[in-house]
Amino acid sequence: MSECREAMDGQERPPPLRANGWEFRSPYRVDFQSTSSLWPPARKFARAPLQCAVALAAGLPVTSKSAPVLTVDGPSGSGKGTISRMVADALGWHLLDSGALYRAVGYAAGMEGLDLSDADAVTRCAQHTKIMFRDPKDGGETRVVVNGHDATDELRTETCGAAASAIAVIPSVRAALVDKQLSFRRAPGLVADGRDMGTVIFPDAGFKVFLTASAEERAKRRYKQLKEKGLSVTLAALLREIQARDVRDAGRAVAPLRPAADAVLIDSTGMPIEAVVATVLALVRPR
Ligand code: DC
Repeated sequence: MSECREAMDGQERPPPLRANGWEFRSPYRVDFQSTSSLWPPARKFARAPLQCAVALAAGLPVTSKSAPVLTVDGPSGSGKGTISRMVADALGWHLLDSGALYRAVGYAAGMEGLDLSDADAVTRCAQHTKIMFRDPKDGGETRVVVNGHDATDELRTETCGAAASAIAVIPSVRAALVDKQLSFRRAPGLVADGRDMGTVIFPDAGFKVFLTASAEERAKRRYKQLKEKGLSVTLAALLREIQARDVRDAGRAVAPLRPAADAVLIDSTGMPIEAVVATVLALVRPR
């Protein structure tokens, strides 16, 4: 089992790191100690076949409070989604895309014609909205089904992103999504992607990453993605949206976007995706 040990006794406190507006003042020197065969890349369930078989036979979700968790938090467009998926695939772990839950609630609230600032109505919506993630049998992208409708494509739009960011400031909406997020913790492990994974939802996670990149770089990545889809957007408008979303996500009273004190900060500006994935995997895998 890997340990993340506090190793400050008698040692010099490391200087704070600054990246793209976040100051990272970790009191920890994260020291990963590994033993022999720590979670090699394996198929899902390979690690705990008996536990999984029993739970599945009983019709129960295979959740486990002791399953290892890697949290990947960071601002919009930092590449968290892509990196988390690639890392989860490489490890054979489950993946929680918590942003999709907030997007799904924003989407459902829109479908119900709710005023997104009406906290009570949106909270009721978060409580009764049925959100399911489906992995197509032939591989391919995970589908997100909201109240029985495959809303994967709608959820990716800027409109849904803005709605998600707006409803995510409501504490009771966040509370309504906690159990759903915790239920993703299953053997052999979980990669949890979001804003408050390491600070609020899985504070005991063994591995925590805070992934960032400059707002300009994030706007350029988003611009490229949207252009490839044939959408008409301007770089300047995307940059403004990203900066506004950063301010809203980092400034909200509940679960603001900030690095966990024991997270490892990775600034992916100018880094190829493969290099970021390798850096994250090196935290989890034995040396
Ligand atoms: O990661 P994303 O862009 O899909 O997230 C959409 C919005 O949801 C984001 O602006 C803030 C909110 N969110 C959140 O508040 N907490 C999370 N753990 C994930 C997303």
